[in-house]
Amino acid sequence: MRMFVQLVFGLFVLKAAVASPRFSRQLDLDTYNSANYDVENEENEYDYDDGLTTDDSQAEIETLAPHYNYPEPGEEELEEEEEQEEGEEEQPLKAQLVPQGSGGSGLLMGPDTQKGMPTCLLCTCLGGSVYCDDLKLNSVPPLPKDTTHFYARYNKITKINKSDFAFMNKLKRIDLTANEITSIEDRAFIGLPELEELVMRENYISQLPSLPETMTLIDASHNNIGSKGIHKEAFKDMTGLLYLYLTDNNIDYIPVPLPDSLRSLHLQRNNIQMMHEDTFCNLNDFNYIRNALEDIRLDGNPINLSRTPQAYVCLPRIPIGDLI
Ligand SMILES: *[C@@H]1O[C@H](CO)[C@@H](O)[C@H](O)[C@H]1NC(C)=O
Ligand SMILES: *[C@@H]1O[C@H](CO)[C@@H](O)[C@H](O)[C@H]1NC(C)=O
Repeated sequence: MRMFVQLVFGLFVLKAAVASPRFSRQLDLDTYNSANYDVENEENEYDYDDGLTTDDSQAEIETLAPHYNYPEPGEEELEEEEEQEEGEEEQPLKAQLVPQGSGGSGLLMGPDTQKGMPTCLLCTCLGGSVYCDDLKLNSVPPLPKDTTHFYARYNKITKINKSDFAFMNKLKRIDLTANEITSIEDRAFIGLPELEELVMRENYISQLPSLPETMTLIDASHNNIGSKGIHKEAFKDMTGLLYLYLTDNNIDYIPVPLPDSLRSLHLQRNNIQMMHEDTFCNLNDFNYIRNALEDIRLDGNPINLSRTPQAYVCLPRIPIGDLI
């Protein structure tokens, strides 16, 4: 995480240096230093991957041309291996990263935001990633067409409009952690053909929007999702879904059917009082084994797991929760 902050800091210096004196922006270093990029949550539910890797020695702030690698779409899974390889290839900065003193023609710097500033001046654009964390944004800024990863954590966004992500055909990850979102137009995400990860932790949404079948991770923990907040069979067709995190809501049932791909189901601190014996397993087929689902959290719910002893026979592990 420290490396990431250094990287952002380094880029900021680079940006400011190249942009001035034309823009003569106030170099508010403290703002960037204190910006909270550390979004690890208390439960370590998963490792937030910012999609950035960097070599410590390469991220020197003094260097005006830091070298770093940014992921190409689809490369994230290789990151760990690549990090271990010697002499890994260094990707050059893309031209669009650096304001050319042109005043940011919409083409180079992305579309204008509602603050009258092109998105990539206000935010940091790195390859396909757009970082707009902690900028007091009230709405989603217009994004460059080739955005793959969008981060707008710690802002004041209140509503997601259908038009916000329209035609963003390359978007894979959207992270809107810690905003003030109360409503999402139901079709705001459904048309995104590449969307895999949606993180909406710590908002005020009461309804989980419709999501495309390409999802692998959904995190809507710490919201106000109640019994009517999840569409019927919402996750059934997401055949690649791995992580479903709905911690700290007001959900009173387990949202079945769950795809076989699912590894983690976190429902702690909701209002689930009972489950059916066929919630996870197939009572008609005792050969059915649900190998992937090894992490079920039901603690903090008023449910007595001892009541449904047959419900776990196909699982590699018994769910965490009250067995008394
Ligand atoms: C979002 O939609 C609402 C109405 O549905 C509108 O008032 C608001 O201006 C829109 N916001 C943006 C940023 O387009
Ligand atoms: C939980 O369920 C078991 C099995 O039905 C029962 O024996 C036990 O008394 C229940 N515990 C509570 C606290 O209701």
